[in-house]
Amino acid sequence: MEIRLDTEYLKGFVSEDDFNNLLPHIKQAHDQLNNKSGKGSPYTGWLDLPHQISDSFLDEIEALGREVRSQSDCIVSIGIGGSYIGIRATLEFLIAEQKLPFYYAGYNLSSGYLYHLMKGLENKRITLIMVSKSGTTTEPALAFRIIRRFMLDKYGPEETRKRIICITDAHQGALRTIVNKEGYRSFAIREDVGGRFSILTAAGLVPLAIAGVDVRGLIHGARLAQNHCARLDLKENMSYRYAAARYLLYNKGKIIEVLATFYQRLAFVDEWWKQLFGESEGKDGKGIFPTALHFTADLHSMGQYLQEGDRNMFETFLIAENSGHEVLIPRDDDDLEDLNCTAGKDLDFVNKQAYKATAMAHYEGGVPNMTIVIPRFDASTLGQLFYFFEKAVAITGYLLDVNPFNQPGVEAYKKKMYALLGREI
Ligand code: PA5
Repeated sequence: MEIRLDTEYLKGFVSEDDFNNLLPHIKQAHDQLNNKSGKGSPYTGWLDLPHQISDSFLDEIEALGREVRSQSDCIVSIGIGGSYIGIRATLEFLIAEQKLPFYYAGYNLSSGYLYHLMKGLENKRITLIMVSKSGTTTEPALAFRIIRRFMLDKYGPEETRKRIICITDAHQGALRTIVNKEGYRSFAIREDVGGRFSILTAAGLVPLAIAGVDVRGLIHGARLAQNHCARLDLKENMSYRYAAARYLLYNKGKIIEVLATFYQRLAFVDEWWKQLFGESEGKDGKGIFPTALHFTADLHSMGQYLQEGDRNMFETFLIAENSGHEVLIPRDDDDLEDLNCTAGKDLDFVNKQAYKATAMAHYEGGVPNMTIVIPRFDASTLGQLFYFFEKAVAITGYLLDVNPFNQPGVEAYKKKMYALLGREI
């Protein structure tokens, strides 16, 4: 695996002895996961998934991608949570590869957003991708109903049918019933993989293949990480080391984790990470609160709190070795801002000094931090990163003795909302 984890700035907060003492507990979590004897084990299909994806499936979705792109100006991708964030995170990370614009719907209930989206679609040839594992989630179901109506008015029933692709459970849910009734093209999401772990199922791969990005590279990276993260080891297995460090910090009162990125292309990886960790760990009165900040912008807002506020947090920096583009800083004869010291350098050089300075200053200010270093912005790297985080959260979930694969808490607001809407529960 090409991802590295630097734990230098944990010194004084977490020691090598702490790691070593935790190893028997990591082993227990590792065994529970592999033997499928831990909590939520029916939803651990993601564990072996990368090596199970077949070439024939990839051929099929790549061919579909070519067909859809030939008849569409853009895609409307409907979904929320695990049926939305991973797709967007991937497309923003691989922005240079994307061959077709994506517009997202069904991840909020904002009428203004949907109104303006449909206005903008009036003169475009669209294909609609509806993703919902349960097929019953309110936000995407309403967006699907509204945009389908818009498409029926625009195209009529036959053309609309050709322009809708649904990704849902193989057998159950309202969306599967609609697919069967209307004859829409559809794909099935594996039953044993929950929403936030589903980026390498049809839920993620079909939209990504349609976008024209390198899905084979994504899977190649995930396979590398699957091999690497299988080892029971806290020095070599970066995913386990990250999981262990988080758990040890949590037990020392560091109850908030800030994922801090310095690259715009990581902005939605942050969102994906927040869902993965928040939904997996935050239950039974336990769990690290995951939050994300985008530096250097947030250094000018939240930087103050990080440096001098309550010392109940740790940071995980996500850094890229190669930013992908060189932007040279010109010399200025007047140099009124006193910045000629950077002249001739790549802007990313300054970004990296900002990262180094931040990590050092926050550490000295009492915020332990780690850094995940990714080599570059390509599909293989992202595949590695996705799997690295999935494996880590499964291990910390078991260390915390929670079920990392359910999300019972998200039902509470839904029940109250259904009651207010007069819908039967
Ligand atoms: O992780 C999860 O299970 C959730 O965030 C779901 O992904 C989200 O609620 C969307 O669910 P569905 O795909 O069933 O519409």
